[in-house]
Amino acid sequence: KGAIVVLPPKRADTLRPRMKNIVVLISGRGSNMEAIVRRCASEGWPARVAAVISNRADAAGLVFAREQGIATAIVDHRAFASREAFDDALARAIDAFAPNVVALAGFMRILTAAFVQRFDGRLVNIHPSLLPLFPGLHTHARAIEAGCKVAGATVHFVTSDLDHGPIIAQAIVPVLSADTEAALAARVLEQEHVLYPLAIRWLVEGALERRDGRVLHVGNESQLLGSR
Ligand code: GAR
Repeated sequence: KGAIVVLPPKRADTLRPRMKNIVVLISGRGSNMEAIVRRCASEGWPARVAAVISNRADAAGLVFAREQGIATAIVDHRAFASREAFDDALARAIDAFAPNVVALAGFMRILTAAFVQRFDGRLVNIHPSLLPLFPGLHTHARAIEAGCKVAGATVHFVTSDLDHGPIIAQAIVPVLSADTEAALAARVLEQEHVLYPLAIRWLVEGALERRDGRVLHVGNESQLLGSR
């Protein structure tokens, strides 16, 4: 009687030993981030979106993240004198969440080689074109202008080359003769919301193998969406 029993604190990683941390970087709308958050929960991935980090305080996606109770952080690039200083602060903000996966989701900053190196193998991006075609900006307008009959989106491991790197998965959509840039962008975005969560699930499940600059699904699942 009167004895005090001290119980060891319950550690989250003991309760969920395989739980992986995903950190998502956004600059704006955040609809891909939202798709990842929703799919992670509804499919019960062995992972959680631990944080959403933005370089802009007014990124609309931050509102959704906060509503979901996800930690958010802002690292404003304008507050830093150099790319290196910004990337360094960004890396430290990301590291605070011990990420297994760092997903760029409409994160519109060019990253230094040192940053890319630090997160090598964990850093992925989605780009709204069939890479290696049309890296950079205005991808949909360029696809229409070139007379392409297909367009799509690519999820890839990030290298220090902008919008380049080993391709994890791609989705294709038709380009229709009446397409405007906005119409094509909307058709591609719908596929992005399926493609990006799928690619990240593969990553947290350890279902991907990098071999000779290529990425293969170990279970031979199709890495192409939208084909008939
Ligand atoms: C998405 O279409 C994404 O593929 C693109 O920005 C959009 C972000 O939308 N990313 C790039 O162009 C990267 N080069 P979201 O904020 O609603 O996810």
